[in-house]
Amino acid sequence: MNAVDDRLVRKQQTTINKLFYEQVPALGMRNYWHPVASGRQIGRKKPLALTVMGDEVAIMRRNGKLFAVANECPHRGSRLSRGTCEFPGSNTVTCRYHGWTFDLEDGALMAALTDGPDSPILNKQIRVRTYPVEERKGIVWIWMASEEPVPVEEDIPPAMLAAEEVHIVQRHVRGNWRWHVENPGLGHATMLHRDSLYMRFVDMFGFGKNFSAPLMDEGNDGEWLQERMADFGRSAEFEGLGEWPVHRIGEVIPLAEMPPVQGVTTIVSVKVPGIIRITNFPIRNVMYYEWFVQTDEDHYLYFQTCCSYAKTLKEKISFWLRFFAWGRFVGMIRFNNQDLAMIEDSHDYAKRRGFNDPIPSYRPDQFQIAWRRYLLKFGRGFNFPEMDEMEVETAQPEVVVEPDKAEPSTASS
Ligand code: FES
Ligand SMILES: [Fe+2]
Repeated sequence: MNAVDDRLVRKQQTTINKLFYEQVPALGMRNYWHPVASGRQIGRKKPLALTVMGDEVAIMRRNGKLFAVANECPHRGSRLSRGTCEFPGSNTVTCRYHGWTFDLEDGALMAALTDGPDSPILNKQIRVRTYPVEERKGIVWIWMASEEPVPVEEDIPPAMLAAEEVHIVQRHVRGNWRWHVENPGLGHATMLHRDSLYMRFVDMFGFGKNFSAPLMDEGNDGEWLQERMADFGRSAEFEGLGEWPVHRIGEVIPLAEMPPVQGVTTIVSVKVPGIIRITNFPIRNVMYYEWFVQTDEDHYLYFQTCCSYAKTLKEKISFWLRFFAWGRFVGMIRFNNQDLAMIEDSHDYAKRRGFNDPIPSYRPDQFQIAWRRYLLKFGRGFNFPEMDEMEVETAQPEVVVEPDKAEPSTASS
């Protein structure tokens, strides 16, 4: 890149970053469906209380169907998640405190039980806010915007809808969703995860080269922003320091070619409004997705899913053994805990400095810039003409290191 190009790229990146921090809500994109629970958490008698994007919500089941309402009674604010169903067979919730009873379909006050059937309060058109909620693949999806929702299938990756089984791991963690969506980027995996048990025996490479971030359809999973590198360096001499990485005893598993999953070969991809997809993680032949649903200013729900396509009993047993004996704990929990610690640090750092403070970026951060541009350009409800005019440079000049034949194919989120 010559100096003029370099200046142009910097200028474009500054525009992207500025818009990103101004326009992308720290509490999350309300106008998308987000996963917030497993369907199993919500029984017939057991409402679930949650904070989603700053709103307190109660999710409950009536006659098999899910309903979500603001978790406060309009009378004196008692939490409706403590409420009861006083009229079995109806889709209502009755507040535990004084018995105001609401229709869960539209939130309308239907009765104030302790004031008798002729209670004049009924004429006041009192309502509790309702939220659209759906259940697909054993997951509870919620729509937090006040506009009419799109069909929930529009926001669920097609290859998840096609899965035979979807397994969930979820945690409430500290940080901000925007940092976690930007966690891919080949800069972190070969450093942060090198000592994880998940990667300890893998002969890992050191650094990627010639990054690019195409936005494209691949296989049966629609359009994603894909993280690519044309080449990688296994190890190199760093001036004045020595060689890195140094081959360690026990790194015996070669970086092998991984099978395509649902026709997808790219290892790491990202999609609006902030979904990360990894093929063959935490075990082979599965599709892994994760969402980051902000709850309050400092916390989000880290929602991880593993989709299996095993059909026959033999395939299923093989999946269960590999998933429950290894992948779930060693991959989805232990390995990803390493990322969580970093996201928390970045969150504190951004709070100390102010979120809009530009952070220095190095070549692997190209993917983050490409992601920001993609979100600003194609995120639902966004329309910034500035984004149409610019092409962000993602290809990078070659780094000279020893060429290596093997292909990188380890998961890296
Ligand atoms: S607070 Fe709910 S009925 Fe009084
Ligand atoms: Fe990671």
